[in-house]
Amino acid sequence: MKVFEIKDLRFTYQKNRIKAVDGISFSIHEGEIFGLLGPSGAGKSTTQKILTRLLKAYEGEILYYGKDLKSYTNTFYEDIGVGFELPVHFSKLTAMENMIFFQQLYKQKSDIVSLLKQVGLYEDKDRLVGEFSKGMKMRLNFVRAMLNNPKILFLDEVTNGLDPKNARIIKDMIRTFKENGGTVLLSTHLMNDVEELCDRVAFISDGKIKEISTPRALKLKHGKRILDVEYYDNTHTKHKTFELTNIGDNQAFLDLLKNYNIETIHSGETSLDEIFIKVTGDKIHE
Ligand SMILES: Nc1ncnc2c1ncn2[C@@H]1O[C@H](COP(=O)(O)OP(=O)(O)O)[C@@H](O)[C@H]1O
Ligand SMILES: [Mg+2]
Repeated sequence: MKVFEIKDLRFTYQKNRIKAVDGISFSIHEGEIFGLLGPSGAGKSTTQKILTRLLKAYEGEILYYGKDLKSYTNTFYEDIGVGFELPVHFSKLTAMENMIFFQQLYKQKSDIVSLLKQVGLYEDKDRLVGEFSKGMKMRLNFVRAMLNNPKILFLDEVTNGLDPKNARIIKDMIRTFKENGGTVLLSTHLMNDVEELCDRVAFISDGKIKEISTPRALKLKHGKRILDVEYYDNTHTKHKTFELTNIGDNQAFLDLLKNYNIETIHSGETSLDEIFIKVTGDKIHE
């Protein structure tokens, strides 16, 4: 089942005439975590804002569960949760007051206390958000996205700037959300997140999709079909490279395995970082 079907989407910011999205087409399937990857300025946030109906003056077609997105009323917002790139909170209210405020906008309500506990903010629930560290704000931002128990989560760089422990908490919650049947559109420039979370990804650059596939297929496509073996020959560590095709019939490889102390074996699939740079050009303006 397709949650979103996006056909030849285009968007130009009128004030500076920047073509932020320049003819992209893709679908998001129910129950998947779809990653929108690309350097800063690629058009990821703009795409998210269009799909969450914050930007309306787009060209092309967006179907949400088979029907034009424009034909939905504001009940659409009951279905979705949005984690904005920059946390939006009232700094003079406490964490709890913020969550209660945002939650009353929805009919469907999830358990705020349980969410705050999951992100490790329960103890801080009565502190002013203005006193929160960036990591705390980002975690609260995630709770905010979950307040209406959404079916679809839009997450824009939600782990950006989080330390590994806090990033882990958020990533685990995203995975749990998916395991419970949720669908996620995640944009990021952090390949670690992608590796751990995404079922499919689209690499975008200059408002266009350069590649769209599974992380695994991309790694195979851009990698080399080779095997690199490090072995110890009684005095030194050495390495040899073999073609992966018909490796089982390669006598030199079999002899090496039999006669030497093998230290490591690696196949030549490339990392997503390398694919990112190759596919989107070397424009990383972070
Ligand atoms: N509110 C805005 N007004 C004008 N131009 C914008 C605005 N937001 C983004 N842009 C421009 O649109 C392009 C895409 O930006 P954005 O969608 O934010 O990219 P990303 O999220 O991939 O970093 C960039 O060139 C950016 O400068
Ligand atoms: Mg962005």
